[in-house]
Amino acid sequence: MEILTITVPDVNGSIRANASDQATRPVVIAVPKELALGEQRVAIVPEVVQKLTKSGYEIRIEHDAGTGAFYPDDLFIAAGAKIVSGTANLMDGARIVLRVQPPTTADIEHLAKGTIVIGFMHAANNLDTIARMRDRRITAFALELIPRITRAQSMDALSSQATAGGYVAAILGADNCPKFLPMLTTAAGTIRPATVLILGAGVAGLMAIATAKRLGALVEAYDVRRAAGEQVRSLGAKFLELEINAEGQGGYARELTAEEKEKEQQMVSAAVARADIVITTAAIPGRKAPVLITKQTVLTMRPGAVIIDMAAESGGNCELTQAGRTVCVQGVTIIGPQNLPARIPFHSSQMYAKNLQSFLALLVDKNGALITEFTDEILVASLLVHAGEVRHGPTRDLLNGGKS
Ligand SMILES: NC(=O)c1ccc[n+]([C@@H]2O[C@H](COP(=O)([O-])OP(=O)(O)OC[C@H]3O[C@@H](n4cnc5c(N)ncnc54)[C@H](O)[C@@H]3O)[C@@H](O)[C@H]2O)c1
Repeated sequence: MEILTITVPDVNGSIRANASDQATRPVVIAVPKELALGEQRVAIVPEVVQKLTKSGYEIRIEHDAGTGAFYPDDLFIAAGAKIVSGTANLMDGARIVLRVQPPTTADIEHLAKGTIVIGFMHAANNLDTIARMRDRRITAFALELIPRITRAQSMDALSSQATAGGYVAAILGADNCPKFLPMLTTAAGTIRPATVLILGAGVAGLMAIATAKRLGALVEAYDVRRAAGEQVRSLGAKFLELEINAEGQGGYARELTAEEKEKEQQMVSAAVARADIVITTAAIPGRKAPVLITKQTVLTMRPGAVIIDMAAESGGNCELTQAGRTVCVQGVTIIGPQNLPARIPFHSSQMYAKNLQSFLALLVDKNGALITEFTDEILVASLLVHAGEVRHGPTRDLLNGGKS
């Protein structure tokens, strides 16, 4: 049996070779250039290359992979990586592939049986790719399936990228708003602060609140999970209370009943009408985003008001949102941005690469060998495809046309 080994720091922090007496060769990690439209991020940064190289991995990076995120090839070379041109050369002998976006079916043709691919997989939208990885006996871990448990926080790429997205959404809102956000007292008069409303106070929403507060706006926020109230107030924003607590499984929100939806609509409509900027982030895992802002509500907004709909890609929290477009309705600008974290690719990549570095540590045993049995609960939960099977139930059901 082939023994694949890497070296890992021992308990004292020094580096030691694998205990095996057999000839060792490093595990090759390949990092391709992301080719999805608008994707500027890269799955590794020089700092993480340095750490992984010290641990004994060989890091191979596709030429120009980091350029969009402002990590040029020479920084990767200085950190110990090899720069390679062409997908075939990149993937030749690679055991692990680190990605941001899911691979395409064409990418998968270059992977050898048993290759481990780690990244966002968005399985429901990429069933062809999942089936291809299953058939080619690729092992795929989907970062969006990592459980939201304390031990997994350092590898929680959904959270790191939502943090980046929430920040960019607030900046985008400010950039499109015809007003100052802070209160100003000037010789030319007094300016009232702008009002920013955040709908959905999860990771992205809380970051948007914090950013809008730092810009000096009056910030109000609403979430169906009552627990979010304390976090909102701790950031100095006003939490809009409704007699609903829709906390569902795993700390996520559940879908509201028809009666609850009506109550929510009334309160949200009043808050939206007085806001200068509305940032919406409401999401329910595995479902279309809830509509919180109807067309009628948009028509009650002030001219110049802006909606940044962070749920645009999953159907939109505003009825008029178009994903990837900006729509203007009676002076109200509705922006349906896609892939907001890619707009600050330097830091989004840095956070993402650190998430991957933490995740990779789970794949190595105490002797520094790549494990083949995935029993850790984080690995079990995030293992999408392995050994010719789709391991994630909901994805398997989708591939089987809804039947298990
Ligand atoms: N490691 C951890 O412990 C960890 C890490 C990250 C997140 N979390 C928790 O996971 C939960 C989900 O976070 P997320 O940011 O991924 O959420 P998400 O992206 O699934 O949803 C965003 C927000 O939308 C809210 N929402 C859904 N329907 C709504 C509606 N009709 N009206 C208003 N708001 C609505 C949700 O409650 C959530 O706060 C939160 O409780 C968060 O604190 C825990």
